Amino acid sequence: MSEEIIIARETENLTGSVRIGGAKNSALKLVAAAILGQGASTLHNVPRISDIDIMADVIRSLGGTVERQGETLIVDTTNATGYETPYELVSKMRASISVLGPLIGRFGHARVAMPGGCNIGARKIDLHLKVLQSIGVQFVNDHGYLYASSPNGLHSAEVYLDFPSVGATENMLMASVVVEGTSVIDNAAREPEIVDLANMLNAMGCKVEGAGSPTITITGVPLESLHPCEHTTVADRIEAGTFLAAGALMGGPLTVEGIDPSFLRMALMKLTDMGCSVETTEDSITVSRTEPLRPVDIQTLPHPGFPTDLQAQFCLLCAMADGTPVITENIFENRFMFAYELNRMGSDITVEDHHAIVHGVKSLQGAPVSCPDLRGGAALVIAGLAAEGETRIHDLHHIDRGYDNYVGKLQSLGANIERLSI
Ligand code: EPZ
Repeated sequence: MSEEIIIARETENLTGSVRIGGAKNSALKLVAAAILGQGASTLHNVPRISDIDIMADVIRSLGGTVERQGETLIVDTTNATGYETPYELVSKMRASISVLGPLIGRFGHARVAMPGGCNIGARKIDLHLKVLQSIGVQFVNDHGYLYASSPNGLHSAEVYLDFPSVGATENMLMASVVVEGTSVIDNAAREPEIVDLANMLNAMGCKVEGAGSPTITITGVPLESLHPCEHTTVADRIEAGTFLAAGALMGGPLTVEGIDPSFLRMALMKLTDMGCSVETTEDSITVSRTEPLRPVDIQTLPHPGFPTDLQAQFCLLCAMADGTPVITENIFENRFMFAYELNRMGSDITVEDHHAIVHGVKSLQGAPVSCPDLRGGAALVIAGLAAEGETRIHDLHHIDRGYDNYVGKLQSLGANIERLSI
Protein backbone atom coordinates (compact mmCIF):
# COMPACT_ATOMS: atom_id res chain seq x y z
CA MET A 1 0.00 0.00 0.00
CA SER A 2 1.43 3.42 -0.95
CA GLU A 3 2.48 5.80 1.80
CA GLU A 4 2.99 9.56 1.71
CA ILE A 5 6.34 10.72 3.00
CA ILE A 6 8.24 14.00 3.17
CA ILE A 7 11.75 14.14 1.76
CA ALA A 8 13.72 16.98 3.34
CA ARG A 9 17.16 17.70 1.92
CA GLU A 10 20.02 19.80 3.23
CA THR A 11 18.97 23.42 2.73
CA GLU A 12 21.24 26.46 2.80
CA ASN A 13 18.80 28.76 4.59
CA LEU A 14 15.13 29.62 5.13
CA THR A 15 14.34 33.27 4.36
CA GLY A 16 11.25 35.34 3.59
CA SER A 17 7.78 35.64 5.07
CA VAL A 18 5.02 33.17 5.83
CA ARG A 19 1.46 34.00 6.89
CA ILE A 20 0.30 32.19 10.01
CA GLY A 21 -3.09 30.44 9.93
CA GLY A 22 -5.80 30.13 12.55
CA ALA A 23 -5.02 28.31 15.79
CA LYS A 24 -5.86 24.59 15.81
CA ASN A 25 -6.21 24.67 19.58
CA SER A 26 -8.77 27.43 19.40
CA ALA A 27 -10.72 26.54 16.25
CA LEU A 28 -11.53 23.05 17.54
CA LYS A 29 -13.25 24.55 20.60
CA LEU A 30 -14.95 27.33 18.62
CA VAL A 31 -16.63 24.67 16.47
CA ALA A 32 -17.81 22.92 19.65
CA ALA A 33 -19.00 26.22 21.16
CA ALA A 34 -21.24 26.75 18.12
CA ILE A 35 -23.52 24.08 19.68
CA LEU A 36 -24.62 26.79 22.12
CA GLY A 37 -25.52 29.20 19.28
CA GLN A 38 -28.47 27.01 18.16
CA GLY A 39 -28.11 28.28 14.60
CA ALA A 40 -25.53 28.93 11.85
CA SER A 41 -22.31 30.47 13.19
CA THR A 42 -19.58 31.63 10.80
CA LEU A 43 -15.97 30.93 11.80
CA HIS A 44 -13.19 32.59 9.79
CA ASN A 45 -9.46 31.73 9.67
CA VAL A 46 -10.05 28.02 10.31
CA PRO A 47 -7.02 25.95 9.26
CA ARG A 48 -7.37 23.06 6.81
CA ILE A 49 -6.21 20.29 9.12
CA SER A 50 -7.53 16.82 9.83
CA ASP A 51 -8.45 17.55 13.46
CA ILE A 52 -10.92 20.16 12.24
CA ASP A 53 -12.39 17.61 9.79
CA ILE A 54 -12.94 15.20 12.69
CA MET A 55 -14.56 17.87 14.87
CA ALA A 56 -16.83 18.72 11.92
CA ASP A 57 -17.84 15.04 11.77
CA VAL A 58 -18.60 15.16 15.50
CA ILE A 59 -20.96 18.10 14.91
CA ARG A 60 -22.57 16.21 12.03
CA SER A 61 -22.96 13.11 14.25
CA LEU A 62 -24.97 15.33 16.61
CA GLY A 63 -27.27 16.39 13.76
CA GLY A 64 -25.59 19.66 12.85
CA THR A 65 -24.04 20.67 9.54
CA VAL A 66 -20.58 22.05 8.77
CA GLU A 67 -19.71 23.61 5.41
CA ARG A 68 -16.24 24.86 4.48
CA GLN A 69 -15.88 27.91 2.22
CA GLY A 70 -12.11 28.41 1.91
CA GLU A 71 -10.78 29.43 5.34
CA THR A 72 -14.34 29.86 6.63
CA LEU A 73 -16.59 27.27 8.28
CA ILE A 74 -20.35 27.64 8.53
CA VAL A 75 -21.34 25.59 11.57
CA ASP A 76 -25.14 25.19 11.78
CA THR A 77 -26.31 23.52 14.98
CA THR A 78 -30.01 24.33 14.61
CA ASN A 79 -30.83 20.64 14.38
CA ALA A 80 -27.98 19.35 16.53
CA THR A 81 -30.39 17.61 18.85
CA GLY A 82 -28.12 14.63 19.46
CA TYR A 83 -26.04 14.52 22.59
CA GLU A 84 -23.89 11.43 21.97
CA THR A 85 -20.42 11.37 20.37
CA PRO A 86 -19.33 8.09 18.79
CA TYR A 87 -16.23 6.24 19.97
CA GLU A 88 -14.79 5.99 16.48
CA LEU A 89 -14.57 9.79 16.26
CA VAL A 90 -13.36 10.47 19.79
CA SER A 91 -10.72 7.74 19.47
CA LYS A 92 -9.33 9.64 16.48
CA MET A 93 -9.14 12.92 18.32
CA ARG A 94 -9.13 13.46 22.07
CA ALA A 95 -10.21 17.09 21.68
CA SER A 96 -13.70 15.79 20.88
CA ILE A 97 -14.14 15.90 24.66
CA SER A 98 -14.58 19.66 24.08
CA VAL A 99 -18.21 19.04 23.11
CA LEU A 100 -18.96 17.86 26.66
CA GLY A 101 -19.36 21.38 28.05
CA PRO A 102 -21.57 22.81 25.31
CA LEU A 103 -23.75 19.66 25.20
CA ILE A 104 -24.34 19.96 28.95
CA GLY A 105 -25.05 23.67 28.53
CA ARG A 106 -27.53 23.13 25.72
CA PHE A 107 -29.21 19.82 26.68
CA GLY A 108 -28.32 19.29 30.34
CA HIS A 109 -26.84 15.90 29.48
CA ALA A 110 -24.34 14.21 27.18
CA ARG A 111 -22.93 10.80 26.36
CA VAL A 112 -19.37 11.09 25.10
CA ALA A 113 -16.84 8.37 24.49
CA MET A 114 -14.09 8.51 27.07
CA PRO A 115 -10.97 9.88 25.36
CA GLY A 116 -8.00 7.54 25.57
CA GLY A 117 -4.46 8.65 26.08
CA CYS A 118 -2.18 9.52 23.23
CA ASN A 119 1.51 9.25 22.40
CA ILE A 120 2.47 12.12 24.70
CA GLY A 121 0.60 11.08 27.80
CA ALA A 122 -2.41 9.76 29.70
CA ARG A 123 -4.42 12.91 28.97
CA LYS A 124 -6.71 12.42 31.97
CA ILE A 125 -9.96 14.37 32.30
CA ASP A 126 -10.45 14.19 36.07
CA LEU A 127 -10.23 17.99 36.36
CA HIS A 128 -12.94 18.39 33.69
CA LEU A 129 -15.23 16.11 35.73
CA LYS A 130 -14.41 17.79 39.04
CA VAL A 131 -15.33 21.31 37.92
CA LEU A 132 -18.47 20.16 36.08
CA GLN A 133 -19.60 18.20 39.13
CA SER A 134 -19.27 21.47 41.09
CA ILE A 135 -22.15 22.93 39.06
CA GLY A 136 -24.35 19.86 39.49
CA VAL A 137 -23.32 17.51 36.69
CA GLN A 138 -23.33 13.81 37.56
CA PHE A 139 -21.20 11.30 35.66
CA VAL A 140 -21.52 7.58 35.09
CA ASN A 141 -18.85 5.60 33.27
CA ASP A 142 -20.90 3.47 30.94
CA HIS A 143 -18.90 0.87 28.96
CA GLY A 144 -16.23 3.33 27.84
CA TYR A 145 -18.70 6.14 27.50
CA LEU A 146 -19.14 8.97 29.94
CA TYR A 147 -22.80 9.68 30.61
CA ALA A 148 -23.26 13.21 31.99
CA SER A 149 -26.59 14.28 33.44
CA SER A 150 -27.97 17.00 35.69
CA PRO A 151 -31.05 15.43 37.35
CA ASN A 152 -31.25 18.20 39.93
CA GLY A 153 -30.48 20.95 37.43
CA LEU A 154 -27.32 23.02 37.25
CA HIS A 155 -26.25 25.73 39.71
CA SER A 156 -23.47 28.31 39.73
CA ALA A 157 -20.32 27.63 41.73
CA GLU A 158 -16.81 28.92 42.39
CA VAL A 159 -14.36 26.22 41.30
CA TYR A 160 -10.60 25.95 41.79
CA LEU A 161 -8.50 24.02 39.27
CA ASP A 162 -5.64 22.06 40.90
CA PHE A 163 -3.81 22.56 37.60
CA PRO A 164 -4.67 25.25 35.01
CA SER A 165 -5.96 22.68 32.53
CA VAL A 166 -6.81 24.19 29.14
CA GLY A 167 -9.52 21.64 28.37
CA ALA A 168 -11.07 21.73 31.83
CA THR A 169 -11.20 25.53 31.73
CA GLU A 170 -12.91 25.40 28.31
CA ASN A 171 -15.48 22.75 29.23
CA MET A 172 -16.35 24.60 32.44
CA LEU A 173 -16.71 27.85 30.48
CA MET A 174 -19.01 26.33 27.86
CA ALA A 175 -21.23 24.57 30.42
CA SER A 176 -21.54 27.41 32.93
CA VAL A 177 -22.40 30.28 30.56
CA VAL A 178 -26.10 29.29 30.74
CA VAL A 179 -26.20 28.46 34.47
CA GLU A 180 -28.17 31.04 36.47
CA GLY A 181 -26.03 33.06 38.85
CA THR A 182 -22.31 33.82 38.86
CA SER A 183 -19.67 31.10 38.51
CA VAL A 184 -15.95 31.63 38.98
CA ILE A 185 -13.02 29.56 37.70
CA ASP A 186 -9.94 30.05 39.87
CA ASN A 187 -6.49 29.00 38.65
CA ALA A 188 -7.93 29.00 35.13
CA ALA A 189 -5.78 28.37 32.06
CA ARG A 190 -4.53 31.67 30.59
CA GLU A 191 -3.67 30.60 27.02
CA PRO A 192 -4.63 33.03 24.19
CA GLU A 193 -6.98 30.33 22.91
CA ILE A 194 -9.01 30.66 26.14
CA VAL A 195 -9.42 34.38 25.42
CA ASP A 196 -10.47 33.58 21.86
CA LEU A 197 -13.14 31.14 23.09
CA ALA A 198 -14.44 33.67 25.63
CA ASN A 199 -14.65 36.30 22.89
CA MET A 200 -16.77 33.99 20.74
CA LEU A 201 -19.01 33.02 23.67
CA ASN A 202 -19.59 36.71 24.42
CA ALA A 203 -20.35 37.33 20.74
CA MET A 204 -23.11 34.70 21.10
CA GLY A 205 -24.59 36.60 24.07
CA CYS A 206 -22.70 35.09 27.00
CA LYS A 207 -21.17 37.11 29.83
CA VAL A 208 -17.59 35.96 30.44
CA GLU A 209 -15.04 38.26 32.09
CA GLY A 210 -11.40 37.80 33.01
CA ALA A 211 -10.39 35.30 30.31
CA GLY A 212 -6.60 35.34 30.02
CA SER A 213 -6.25 35.92 33.77
CA PRO A 214 -6.19 33.20 36.44
CA THR A 215 -9.74 34.12 37.53
CA ILE A 216 -12.63 33.96 35.07
CA THR A 217 -16.12 35.15 36.08
CA ILE A 218 -19.17 33.83 34.23
CA THR A 219 -22.58 35.45 34.66
CA GLY A 220 -25.15 32.91 33.49
CA VAL A 221 -27.69 33.90 30.83
CA PRO A 222 -30.73 31.92 29.58
CA LEU A 223 -29.88 29.42 26.82
CA GLU A 224 -32.65 30.84 24.64
CA SER A 225 -30.96 34.25 24.77
CA LEU A 226 -27.88 32.88 22.98
CA HIS A 227 -27.58 33.22 19.22
CA PRO A 228 -25.13 32.28 16.43
CA CYS A 229 -22.27 34.66 15.70
CA GLU A 230 -19.47 35.44 13.24
CA HIS A 231 -15.96 35.08 14.65
CA THR A 232 -12.39 35.03 13.40
CA THR A 233 -10.07 32.44 14.93
CA VAL A 234 -6.98 33.82 16.63
CA ALA A 235 -3.66 33.08 14.89
CA ASP A 236 -1.76 29.90 15.75
CA ARG A 237 1.11 30.80 18.07
CA ILE A 238 2.48 27.26 17.87
CA GLU A 239 2.62 27.28 14.07
CA ALA A 240 4.35 30.67 14.34
CA GLY A 241 6.81 29.36 16.93
CA THR A 242 7.55 26.35 14.76
CA PHE A 243 8.57 28.52 11.79
CA LEU A 244 10.53 30.88 14.05
CA ALA A 245 12.50 27.90 15.40
CA ALA A 246 13.23 26.90 11.78
CA GLY A 247 14.47 30.41 11.00
CA ALA A 248 16.58 30.47 14.17
CA LEU A 249 18.18 27.16 13.22
CA MET A 250 18.91 28.01 9.59
CA GLY A 251 19.79 31.69 10.07
CA GLY A 252 16.97 33.57 8.36
CA PRO A 253 15.86 36.33 8.33
CA LEU A 254 12.48 34.61 8.52
CA THR A 255 9.26 36.51 9.19
CA VAL A 256 5.94 35.13 10.46
CA GLU A 257 3.02 37.42 9.65
CA GLY A 258 -0.41 37.76 11.22
CA ILE A 259 0.62 36.84 14.75
CA ASP A 260 0.57 38.93 17.94
CA PRO A 261 4.14 38.75 19.37
CA SER A 262 2.75 38.94 22.91
CA PHE A 263 1.48 35.35 22.45
CA LEU A 264 5.10 34.13 22.26
CA ARG A 265 6.90 36.28 24.81
CA MET A 266 8.70 33.39 26.54
CA ALA A 267 9.71 31.67 23.30
CA LEU A 268 11.04 34.95 21.87
CA MET A 269 13.04 35.51 25.04
CA LYS A 270 14.61 32.07 24.62
CA LEU A 271 15.47 32.79 20.98
CA THR A 272 17.21 35.99 22.07
CA ASP A 273 19.06 34.13 24.85
CA MET A 274 20.20 31.58 22.23
CA GLY A 275 21.85 34.36 20.21
CA CYS A 276 19.11 35.24 17.73
CA SER A 277 17.95 38.67 16.70
CA VAL A 278 14.17 39.05 17.14
CA GLU A 279 12.30 42.03 15.68
CA THR A 280 8.56 42.52 16.10
CA THR A 281 5.75 44.68 14.82
CA GLU A 282 2.20 44.56 16.17
CA ASP A 283 1.38 41.56 13.96
CA SER A 284 4.68 40.03 12.82
CA ILE A 285 7.93 38.58 14.16
CA THR A 286 11.27 38.34 12.34
CA VAL A 287 14.07 36.07 13.54
CA SER A 288 17.65 35.96 12.28
CA ARG A 289 20.93 34.56 13.55
CA THR A 290 24.56 35.10 12.61
CA GLU A 291 26.19 33.84 15.83
CA PRO A 292 26.47 30.17 16.86
CA LEU A 293 23.46 28.96 18.86
CA ARG A 294 24.01 29.39 22.59
CA PRO A 295 22.77 26.69 24.99
CA VAL A 296 19.74 27.68 27.08
CA ASP A 297 17.84 25.60 29.63
CA ILE A 298 14.11 25.35 28.96
CA GLN A 299 11.24 24.19 31.12
CA THR A 300 7.70 23.92 29.88
CA LEU A 301 4.93 25.50 31.95
CA PRO A 302 1.32 26.60 31.52
CA HIS A 303 0.94 29.92 29.67
CA PRO A 304 2.56 32.42 29.98
CA GLY A 305 5.38 29.95 30.68
CA PHE A 306 7.27 28.25 27.86
CA PRO A 307 4.73 26.30 25.77
CA THR A 308 5.02 22.50 25.80
CA ASP A 309 3.89 22.53 22.16
CA LEU A 310 7.21 24.21 21.21
CA GLN A 311 9.37 21.89 23.30
CA ALA A 312 10.42 19.57 20.44
CA GLN A 313 11.20 22.47 18.10
CA PHE A 314 13.42 24.16 20.70
CA CYS A 315 14.97 20.83 21.68
CA LEU A 316 16.25 20.74 18.10
CA LEU A 317 17.79 24.19 18.55
CA CYS A 318 19.43 23.04 21.78
CA ALA A 319 20.73 19.91 20.02
CA MET A 320 22.75 22.17 17.69
CA ALA A 321 23.89 24.60 20.40
CA ASP A 322 27.45 24.72 21.74
CA GLY A 323 26.92 23.31 25.24
CA THR A 324 24.74 21.03 27.36
CA PRO A 325 21.34 22.60 28.01
CA VAL A 326 18.64 20.76 29.94
CA ILE A 327 15.02 20.66 28.84
CA THR A 328 12.37 19.92 31.48
CA GLU A 329 8.91 18.84 30.33
CA ASN A 330 6.47 19.66 33.13
CA ILE A 331 3.17 19.31 31.27
CA PHE A 332 3.11 15.87 29.63
CA GLU A 333 4.69 12.67 30.86
CA ASN A 334 5.96 11.32 27.54
CA ARG A 335 6.92 14.14 25.26
CA PHE A 336 10.59 13.34 24.48
CA MET A 337 9.99 10.70 21.81
CA PHE A 338 11.16 13.27 19.28
CA ALA A 339 14.59 13.19 20.95
CA TYR A 340 14.95 9.47 20.29
CA GLU A 341 14.25 10.02 16.59
CA LEU A 342 16.63 12.99 16.44
CA ASN A 343 19.38 10.86 18.01
CA ARG A 344 19.09 8.65 14.94
CA MET A 345 20.14 11.74 12.97
CA GLY A 346 23.22 12.23 15.16
CA SER A 347 22.04 14.37 18.05
CA ASP A 348 23.21 13.44 21.55
CA ILE A 349 20.24 13.70 23.91
CA THR A 350 19.82 11.69 27.10
CA VAL A 351 16.32 11.48 28.57
CA GLU A 352 16.01 11.01 32.31
CA ASP A 353 12.40 11.05 33.57
CA HIS A 354 11.04 14.46 32.57
CA HIS A 355 14.45 15.95 31.75
CA ALA A 356 16.35 15.83 28.46
CA ILE A 357 20.09 16.48 28.79
CA VAL A 358 21.13 17.81 25.40
CA HIS A 359 24.81 17.59 24.41
CA GLY A 360 25.11 19.94 21.44
CA VAL A 361 26.54 18.55 18.21
CA LYS A 362 27.95 20.37 15.21
CA SER A 363 25.89 18.60 12.56
CA LEU A 364 23.12 16.13 11.91
CA GLN A 365 22.94 13.41 9.25
CA GLY A 366 19.87 12.76 7.18
CA ALA A 367 18.09 9.49 7.99
CA PRO A 368 14.71 7.79 7.63
CA VAL A 369 12.62 8.86 10.64
CA SER A 370 9.06 8.47 11.86
CA CYS A 371 6.87 11.21 13.33
CA PRO A 372 6.26 10.28 16.99
CA ASP A 373 3.54 12.94 17.46
CA LEU A 374 2.32 16.20 15.97
CA ARG A 375 4.95 18.64 17.18
CA GLY A 376 7.82 16.14 17.17
CA GLY A 377 7.00 15.41 13.53
CA ALA A 378 7.10 19.09 12.61
CA ALA A 379 10.47 19.40 14.34
CA LEU A 380 11.89 16.36 12.50
CA VAL A 381 11.06 18.02 9.18
CA ILE A 382 13.07 21.09 10.21
CA ALA A 383 15.91 18.83 11.37
CA GLY A 384 15.93 17.23 7.92
CA LEU A 385 16.47 20.64 6.31
CA ALA A 386 19.50 21.30 8.55
CA ALA A 387 20.97 17.79 8.26
CA GLU A 388 23.53 16.63 5.74
CA GLY A 389 21.98 14.58 2.97
CA GLU A 390 18.39 13.43 2.76
CA THR A 391 15.81 12.74 5.49
CA ARG A 392 12.66 10.73 4.79
CA ILE A 393 9.89 11.45 7.26
CA HIS A 394 7.14 8.83 7.70
CA ASP A 395 3.78 8.78 9.54
CA LEU A 396 2.75 12.17 8.22
CA HIS A 397 -0.78 11.86 9.61
CA HIS A 398 0.58 13.30 12.84
CA ILE A 399 1.69 16.48 11.05
CA ASP A 400 -1.53 16.72 9.05
CA ARG A 401 -3.49 16.96 12.29
CA GLY A 402 -2.14 20.41 13.06
CA TYR A 403 -0.22 22.01 10.18
CA ASP A 404 -1.98 23.42 7.11
CA ASN A 405 0.25 23.23 4.00
CA TYR A 406 3.43 22.77 6.06
CA VAL A 407 5.56 21.63 3.10
CA GLY A 408 4.23 24.39 0.84
CA LYS A 409 5.00 27.08 3.39
CA LEU A 410 8.53 25.70 3.92
CA GLN A 411 9.07 25.56 0.14
CA SER A 412 8.06 29.24 -0.10
CA LEU A 413 10.89 29.98 2.35
CA GLY A 414 13.45 28.16 0.18
CA ALA A 415 13.33 24.68 1.69
CA ASN A 416 14.57 21.80 -0.42
CA ILE A 417 11.58 19.63 0.46
CA GLU A 418 8.86 17.62 -1.22
CA ARG A 419 5.93 15.41 -0.25
CA LEU A 420 5.26 12.36 -2.35
CA SER A 421 3.73 8.90 -2.35
CA ILE A 422 6.08 5.93 -2.33
C1 EPZ B 1 -4.38 21.48 25.15
O1 EPZ B 1 -4.48 20.14 25.57
C2 EPZ B 1 -3.80 21.44 23.74
N1 EPZ B 1 -4.69 20.68 22.87
C3 EPZ B 1 -2.42 20.79 23.76
O2 EPZ B 1 -1.89 20.88 22.43
C4 EPZ B 1 -1.52 21.59 24.70
O3 EPZ B 1 -0.25 20.97 24.76
C5 EPZ B 1 -2.15 21.65 26.08
O4 EPZ B 1 -3.48 22.23 25.98
C6 EPZ B 1 -1.34 22.50 27.05
O5 EPZ B 1 -1.21 23.78 26.53
C7 EPZ B 1 -5.81 21.25 22.40
O6 EPZ B 1 -6.13 22.39 22.72
C8 EPZ B 1 -6.64 20.43 21.45
P1 EPZ B 1 -4.42 20.37 29.59
P2 EPZ B 1 -5.30 19.78 26.93
O7 EPZ B 1 -5.80 19.99 29.97
O8 EPZ B 1 -6.49 20.65 27.03
C9 EPZ B 1 -3.18 16.95 32.67
C10 EPZ B 1 -0.88 20.12 20.47
O9 EPZ B 1 0.23 19.65 20.18
N2 EPZ B 1 -4.62 16.92 32.96
O10 EPZ B 1 -3.92 21.73 29.94
O11 EPZ B 1 -5.49 18.32 26.96
C11 EPZ B 1 -2.90 16.37 31.27
O12 EPZ B 1 -2.79 14.97 31.37
C12 EPZ B 1 -1.60 19.67 21.71
O13 EPZ B 1 -1.48 21.00 19.78
C13 EPZ B 1 -5.07 16.12 34.02
O14 EPZ B 1 -4.28 15.47 34.70
O15 EPZ B 1 -4.21 20.21 28.02
C14 EPZ B 1 -1.63 17.02 30.87
O16 EPZ B 1 -0.55 16.32 31.43
C15 EPZ B 1 -0.80 18.65 22.52
N3 EPZ B 1 -6.41 16.08 34.26
C16 EPZ B 1 -1.73 18.41 31.52
O17 EPZ B 1 -2.72 18.31 32.55
C17 EPZ B 1 -7.31 16.79 33.52
O18 EPZ B 1 -8.52 16.71 33.80
C18 EPZ B 1 -2.14 19.51 30.55
O19 EPZ B 1 -3.45 19.21 30.12
C19 EPZ B 1 -6.82 17.58 32.44
C20 EPZ B 1 -5.48 17.64 32.18
